[in-house]
Amino acid sequence: MIRGAPTGRLAPVNVLRHLAGLVRRTFLGLAPGLARPDDAFALGWLESREADAYRAMDPRDRDHACRVAHRLLARFPDAEPRTVRAALLHDVGKAERPYRVWERVLVHVWAPGPATAARFPEALRDAWRVHAEHADLGARRLRALDVDARVVELVARHHGPPAGDEELRRLIAADEAT
Ligand SMILES: [Fe+2]
Repeated sequence: MIRGAPTGRLAPVNVLRHLAGLVRRTFLGLAPGLARPDDAFALGWLESREADAYRAMDPRDRDHACRVAHRLLARFPDAEPRTVRAALLHDVGKAERPYRVWERVLVHVWAPGPATAARFPEALRDAWRVHAEHADLGARRLRALDVDARVVELVARHHGPPAGDEELRRLIAADEAT
């Protein structure tokens, strides 16, 4: 299974977009100077405490977040503003660790079981943990900042399943295709 594909049931065109996104994000990881987060766009949507959380993200994660939000608005122009804000913050939990390219590539392509993971250094185990739990970690970070509960919920659930929540389905679709 492709790591990072939230629902595991992507339409073929989204599989291609998802893979293209992974390649681009890996390339950006290696050449961080090429990250061009649209911060003016993001900060135009976010409330002040949300903006603080957004600014704590690595530029490469902000670049991805802005692309997801732009795609969300392109596909669903009537998306709720709180969904757009969640799109801009969905991966904020990854800010729990500094951005290290080799870690990001590894945790995206491989998730070992606990017995195998136990043989690796603690830093790497922590990277796997943050990757696996980043949705919850992000929600916790936003809750601590007293961010709107709906934004927190969307961030917490952004790896699905949408379970009948149309706005969450839109966010997941935009993320999967980016
Ligand atoms: Fe995520």
